[in-house]
Amino acid sequence: MKKAKMILDKDFLVGKVDDRIYGSFIEHLGRAIYGGIYEPDHPEADESGFRKDVISLVRELKVPIVRYPGGNFVSGYNWEDGVGPKDQRPRRLELAWRTIETNQFGTNEFVDWAKKVDAEVMMAINLGTRGVDAARNFIEYCNHPGGTYWSDLRRSHGYEEPHNIKVWCLGNEMDGPWQIGHKTAEEYGRIACEAAKVMKWVDPSIELVACGSSSIGMPTFAEWEATVLDHTYEHVDYISLHQYYGNRDNDTPNFLARTMDMDLFIKSVISICDYIKAKKRSKKTINLSFDEWNVWYHSNEADRKIEPWSIAPPQLEDVYTFEDALLVGSMLITLLRHADRVKMACMAQLVNVIAPIMTENGGAAWRQTIFYPYMHASVYGRGVALNPVVNSPVYDTKEYSDVPCLDSTAVWNEENEELTIFAVNRDMEDSLVLECDLRNFPGYEVVEHIVMEHEDVKARNTRDNPNNVVPSHRQGTEVVDGLLTAKLNNLSWNVIRLAKAK
Ligand code: AHR
Repeated sequence: MKKAKMILDKDFLVGKVDDRIYGSFIEHLGRAIYGGIYEPDHPEADESGFRKDVISLVRELKVPIVRYPGGNFVSGYNWEDGVGPKDQRPRRLELAWRTIETNQFGTNEFVDWAKKVDAEVMMAINLGTRGVDAARNFIEYCNHPGGTYWSDLRRSHGYEEPHNIKVWCLGNEMDGPWQIGHKTAEEYGRIACEAAKVMKWVDPSIELVACGSSSIGMPTFAEWEATVLDHTYEHVDYISLHQYYGNRDNDTPNFLARTMDMDLFIKSVISICDYIKAKKRSKKTINLSFDEWNVWYHSNEADRKIEPWSIAPPQLEDVYTFEDALLVGSMLITLLRHADRVKMACMAQLVNVIAPIMTENGGAAWRQTIFYPYMHASVYGRGVALNPVVNSPVYDTKEYSDVPCLDSTAVWNEENEELTIFAVNRDMEDSLVLECDLRNFPGYEVVEHIVMEHEDVKARNTRDNPNNVVPSHRQGTEVVDGLLTAKLNNLSWNVIRLAKAK
């Protein structure tokens, strides 16, 4: 059996974990909204048409913030279409995903739904087909108390109090040629700067996210961030990162090593932010919003067969495997490793569309494999991220060298005197014995060791077999004289929860 060593020390800190690192995303896409969170005819629908079965699964995930309404969708969206009496809302051709948008669900419904799941809203504006004027009107509608045209319109729609939406995204993936109203970095930097200015004039308390690259693989990556920040630095607070991975060539060791690339992406964007900070002699630091991340590839083939111009077709319905859950665990670990600069992140997406939660129209809702690592991190990963010293065996793949078999980090919740270790053993064959020196955590004992493991890396959860891949408990993990010993099976996700003995 292989061995890995780790040292955890209260003084080796990355930084405070911003709860919003466990955010998610709901787009007007496929069945994310219609048939996902909103289905008035469903037996579980509440008085607003929201599915209560879905609400309760979202609450299990403790999602702190949800990005809305897109995604690519937002770049052609007229927000005015989605407010006011439902029978007067227009049906539109939706060009990003080639569907028909009925607008039966819009901003106010989303704000109501977010309250029911205890989440904050991260609202995106359209900088594809629209610009400064629509942006200032929209924020006035949402956040101004009253006594003006747009704020009074909101009140006339039944929302006396402002929504006070704090986080706003300045468009979506504007670097991508697939985007409606795609722009060069210069064009986007200018419009984002002007939109940001007026939005903060309407409500100075908001925080703004500028669009970074759609992935580290974009040809404009790095130059895009530098140019956009050159224009917007003093007006925005975050820059976004998006990244999806797939295992198209069925090479699991290589797939599980993808977080090496995610780590590089984050480090590179931090460097660009700080380069522009230095160039501008600014005192301000721009943080990162990794507001789209996940595995996405299973549904690509099926999506090509969907006829255009239908309402809420089953688009991007990836059915996730056990190995996807392992990579999602590693992606969460990677975000935590950069908790000092990654302040927000959104698993894309939340329901039906590349999502941890799946539903059937009129029927059941269930948890996909990736639900579990996301839930574990969100529930137990609140506190300060520690910087563990790790010594692990490594492996090589066709794209990566020296990939640590043990991918791990830890979060300490000082208030509750709880310490949680998150760990993936990426080794295909061998278990790892983890020995962790707990240094200055005297009196901490194991509460539980949660694991996810399965003999079939392609195992999935489906409507008919929703509990095929679920977490279980491992016995035998213990702390003796400040040394934690745990067995981490080959290809496993592990959550080792410790707490100070009372
Ligand atoms: O999340 C699915 C899509 O992926 C989003 O609409 C877009 O922003 C990204 O390309």
